[in-house]
Amino acid sequence: MRVAVVGATGAVGTVMRRLLRERAFPADEIVLFASERSAGKVVDGLTVQPLRDDTVTGFDIALFSAGGSTSKAWAERFAAGGAVVVDNSSAWRMDPDVPLIVAEVNPDAVEETRKGIIANPNCTTMVVMLPAKALHDRFGLTAMVATSFQAAGGAGQKGIDELADQVEPLAADVDQLVNDGAAAARKVEHTVHANTLAFNVVPLLGTLNDQGYTDEEMKLQNESRKILSLPGLSVTPTCVRVPVMVGHSIAVRATFEREPGLDEALEALRAFPNLVVEEAPTPLEWAGRDETVVGRVRRDLSDPHVLNFFVVGDNLLKGAALNTVQIAELVVERGLVGSSAPAA
Ligand code: A2P
Repeated sequence: MRVAVVGATGAVGTVMRRLLRERAFPADEIVLFASERSAGKVVDGLTVQPLRDDTVTGFDIALFSAGGSTSKAWAERFAAGGAVVVDNSSAWRMDPDVPLIVAEVNPDAVEETRKGIIANPNCTTMVVMLPAKALHDRFGLTAMVATSFQAAGGAGQKGIDELADQVEPLAADVDQLVNDGAAAARKVEHTVHANTLAFNVVPLLGTLNDQGYTDEEMKLQNESRKILSLPGLSVTPTCVRVPVMVGHSIAVRATFEREPGLDEALEALRAFPNLVVEEAPTPLEWAGRDETVVGRVRRDLSDPHVLNFFVVGDNLLKGAALNTVQIAELVVERGLVGSSAPAA
């Protein structure tokens, strides 16, 4: 089996490479791809390749995490060359011929690929889906108000680097942080995040649409509906960037058809695969861990049909690379490798 990793030098690609090794993915050969800038570099003892028509054929599986435009330009070419593509970008997620899969939530959809492409959900949507599905199966989910606390690493290595570079200059003058925050914010550059992120919270993540929602927020609505097969699900999203390196957190207010009992809800959450229940999980403590964790589970103060909870997951692992590799494992387990080339 020949496996391509596209975007192999990035934050998610680096984790993908490690997971393929650690999970003993049955690859005979792994070929790493990145931009022209990295072509020729040696990573994991392998020479990074550029994307060219003559380098992208003959793969069984291609794992993509190189941004939407690279996926748009190259995923179909890998698929035409015989690969099942698992794509971590937003390029293909809402295509009706492309399944959008969270491994523990809707694994059977892996069989429904008609393009040879399978999409990996957005990292924030991903972690919400585990508790949402666990509770939906018991009580029937009808609505979610979801407010995210998203890590810098959701914007890739450049997002992590920008936050890291801001910390020391701002920490050097605590008095200014306390008394003149605007001056502190102006001391450092920001090009990745919408404002200075160190010692701050930035409530704008992506591009605003006419209704006042960002593309990141619309993903929470549209992808949740597709993954849970609930086209009428009401979602009210607010996405916020916080000065955390890795680990997305989301406060969710979920409404159900049936009144959810707290004990039954906790039992459903504890029984769900790769989901852990803890009183008050934090992203720092869960960075680097495979499981998604849910806490602060409580009944609403006014509406008996509502549960409130706080879910945390590593955006590079479950939110991205781990789920991508889990999908690739499903593809292999179900014998779908080699069957993907679309008819000419
Ligand atoms: P490179 O390291 O050569 O720029 P991140 O999400 O951490 O920013 O990583 C993005 C990944 O996608 C990197 O591996 C990056 O390679 C790769 N990439 C970016 N643009 C392209 C492109 N046009 N073609 C192929 N790979 C790309």
